[in-house]
Amino acid sequence: MRGEHRLEGSQSQQLRNFITRMAAGEPLSRILGRREFWGLDFELTPDTLDPRPDSETIIEAVLARVGRGASLRLLDLGTGSGCLLLTLLSELPIATGIGVDISEGAVATARRNAESLRLNGRSSFLVGDWGGAIAQRFDVVVANPPYIATSALRDLPQEVRLYDPPRALDGGDRGLAAYQRIIGLLPVLLAPYGMFVAEIGRGQAADVVALLKEHALACEAIERDLSGIERCIVARDTASQH
Ligand SMILES: C[S@@+](CC[C@H](N)C(=O)[O-])C[C@H]1O[C@@H](n2cnc3c(N)ncnc32)[C@H](O)[C@@H]1O
Repeated sequence: MRGEHRLEGSQSQQLRNFITRMAAGEPLSRILGRREFWGLDFELTPDTLDPRPDSETIIEAVLARVGRGASLRLLDLGTGSGCLLLTLLSELPIATGIGVDISEGAVATARRNAESLRLNGRSSFLVGDWGGAIAQRFDVVVANPPYIATSALRDLPQEVRLYDPPRALDGGDRGLAAYQRIIGLLPVLLAPYGMFVAEIGRGQAADVVALLKEHALACEAIERDLSGIERCIVARDTASQH
């Protein structure tokens, strides 16, 4: 792209190093430590999932249902790089939010992303086990939890298996362990008529809808990604429990 540009010695050494890593199958986003999501630039570290374009389905599902000028309180469970919470805050100018992750490294990365996107004034990030330690209610709870069945982890493509952190992927026996924990907490996390929007794995919709029903939450919609795969579930508190 810049044929006239001459690389200095250390730069050409770095380029050779990058090419060797790419040839060995390391994703470019991991080599550069950066990933674009919803047009925003996010830092990645070995502690964070590499955000996937499919997860933008969550952003679309939320933005289609809220007013941009509303002073919403958002909660992002399993925040990783912070991409879901920070993207939503970038689109909702007076919303505020909390991101939670069990990984200290992920939380530190999300905080840096909040600063570089100048969203640190409206966001905070906590280390925690889902929302168990949070004593507040939220208008919108989003989550992209680990949802791969443990037995399927070894069949993942190398660029996922070797470079995404295992606890960002491993959803237990049937891939549903994190949904069970998170959905069980929703009755105390959602504000009246609050909304829960979560990414789901292929073929998991019926199981997640059944979990929602167990906790008296109504599934409002199942949204598909650009490949036509059921990718995210939208549920609503009916306010009957408040
Ligand atoms: C699939 S990644 C999603 C990351 C980010 N939200 C995204 O969409 O790119 C799941 C995240 O859940 C976090 N996680 C796993 N178990 C957790 C737990 N018990 N409590 C909080 N976060 C957890 C992982 O560390 C990981 O960052």
